[in-house]
Parts: sequence; structure tokens; C-alpha cells
Amino acid sequence: MDCYGVIGHPVKHSVSPAMHNAAFRAMKIDAVYASFDVKPEDLKKAIEGAKALGIKGLNVTIPHKEEVLKLAKPDELALRIGAANTLKFDEEVLAYNTDAYGALKALENAGVGVSGKTVLIIGAGGAARAIAFALVGEGATVVVTNRTEQRGLKLVQDVRKYGECVFVPMSELEKLRFDILINATPVGMSGYMPGKLPVDSKLIKEGIVVFDTVYNPMETALIKLAKMRGCKVVYGIDMLVHQGARAFEIWTGLSPPFDVMKKAALNALER
Ligand SMILES: NC(=O)c1ccc[n+]([C@@H]2O[C@H](COP(=O)([O-])OP(=O)(O)OC[C@H]3O[C@@H](n4cnc5c(N)ncnc54)[C@H](OP(=O)(O)O)[C@@H]3O)[C@@H](O)[C@H]2O)c1
Repeated sequence: MDCYGVIGHPVKHSVSPAMHNAAFRAMKIDAVYASFDVKPEDLKKAIEGAKALGIKGLNVTIPHKEEVLKLAKPDELALRIGAANTLKFDEEVLAYNTDAYGALKALENAGVGVSGKTVLIIGAGGAARAIAFALVGEGATVVVTNRTEQRGLKLVQDVRKYGECVFVPMSELEKLRFDILINATPVGMSGYMPGKLPVDSKLIKEGIVVFDTVYNPMETALIKLAKMRGCKVVYGIDMLVHQGARAFEIWTGLSPPFDVMKKAALNALER
């Protein structure tokens, strides 16, 4: 039996085990996926241990996505983003960022084209970084706003090497015109700031697309407001399942059972 898993700290609420084990069962693959709580100071030992144990692949979540790049061989996109969420154990430990792919796929599946569009990203952490690099790669103009301006400015400086990207402080967003708004902060997340909006409600205007990367709850305050105002919405759960599906494909070389994975993720969230 092959072994896969997710490393993070904390990790016990991850829906990835449910999603991947359901995929393995559906595809009749003799494999199991488990979660491992790994403290930051133990990351190197955990990767070495996984190698020694013959683990085939790992997902990597908060807070290890950046640090893990020092312990693996990243592909070009992961290197550019500066973070990885998927490791494949081969002759070497290969690192990928499937969050970027997951975000693009969620937009694509909702029928939202990004080329030539102006996209406002709220946040400048790991998720925002992956999404910003992915979007400029597809020909979008990215506007970043963030609570901590320095962090937002750093992201813009990095992304600008590859495409159009500017920073706008939160206090100046009202003047901005944009086609797509993406929340890449935890604001609105259950257990953190449920019911809260990441930006002023005035910014949610009819005709724009609103993508909330927060997936718990699925119907965040931002999504509810966007629907009320007649905006097209994109759900964080779709990004989550697509990033997992891409990891599955990287590990197994097989086409992932997306619907099975989504159903398992939704069931795990309900629990
Ligand atoms: N759907 C998916 O597949 C998926 C994947 C990854 C992440 N996510 C979502 O994205 C969120 C962010 O993840 P991450 O990995 O990017 O985290 P991160 O690296 O810790 O970054 C968090 C970002 O949110 C901002 N922020 C945090 N609390 C805030 C508040 N109260 N008000 C305003 N801004 C605030 C931070 O601003 P400062 O710089 O000012 O601290 C930072 O820009 C997660 O909570 C999760 O809901 C979803």
C-alpha cells in the first residue's frame, strides 16, 4: 500500500484526508492518505523521515509552504511564487504549487475569463501570492491591497517582473475600477471572523465577479452579499478541490475524480 499525507501545524481540521482517500477508493488505488502535525522546528526531520519511510507524496499547509522550498526541488512556478503545497517523492523531492492552478481552474469552471481583466486581490499572504502570479501569467492586471502595506508592496514588487501589478491602499479602493474581486484573507472564516466582510460593502457592485478563497463556511458574508447584488460568485471550495485534484494527478499520473473529491470535501466540512 502506498502512503500519502498532509503536513501542517495545526492540521487536524484539514479536509484533504477525506478528499484524497475518497479519490483513492473511487479509482481502486491501493493507497492511504493521513494528516501529520509537524511543528516548524521539525520540518526538516519530517521530510527526511517521509523519504526514509517511502511516503510517495505530501501536501504542505500552514505554516510550512515557504520553508519547504529549502528542502525540495521546486518547479518554476513554485520557485517564482516562493511557496509550495505539494511534494512528490521521486529520486529527488519535487515541490509544486497547486494553489495557483486551483484558483485559475475555479475561475475557469465558473466561466470567468481573466485575460485582459483587472483583478483586485485582498491580502498578500501565501494564497494571495499564488493567485497573483497565476493571474498575471494569464494576462490579467492585478491590483493588490493589504492590511499591512509593506507586505502588499513586496508582493507587487515580486509579481511585476512577470506582468502588470500595482498596490492600492485599502483606504483608496473606492476610486478603483475592477472586474474581479478575490478575498485571499481569512476574514469571514468560521472560527476567525465569521460574518465579516474583508472590504467595504460599497466595493461589491453589480456586474463584478466575486471569488472568496475562504471555504468554511461555503456561503461567507462576502458571497452572500455578492449574490444579493447580482454578482457572479466563485467558491473557495472549488479552489480547494482543484488544488487537491492537481496534486492527485501529479502523484498518480491519473485523471482525478473531481466530483468524488468535492463530495468528500463537502461532507468533511459539514462534520
Ligand atoms: N480555497 C483554498 O484552496 C485556499 C487555499 C489557501 C488559502 N485559502 C484561504 O486564504 C486565507 C489566507 O491564507 P494564506 O495562506 O494566504 O494566509 P497568510 O499567508 O497567513 O496570509 C493572510 C493574509 O490575510 C490578511 N489578514 C489576516 N487577518 C486579517 C484581518 N483581520 N483583516 C485584514 N486582513 C487580514 C493578512 O494581512 P497582513 O499582511 O496584514 O497580516 C495576509 O495578507 C486562508 O484563511 C484560507 O481561508 C484558501
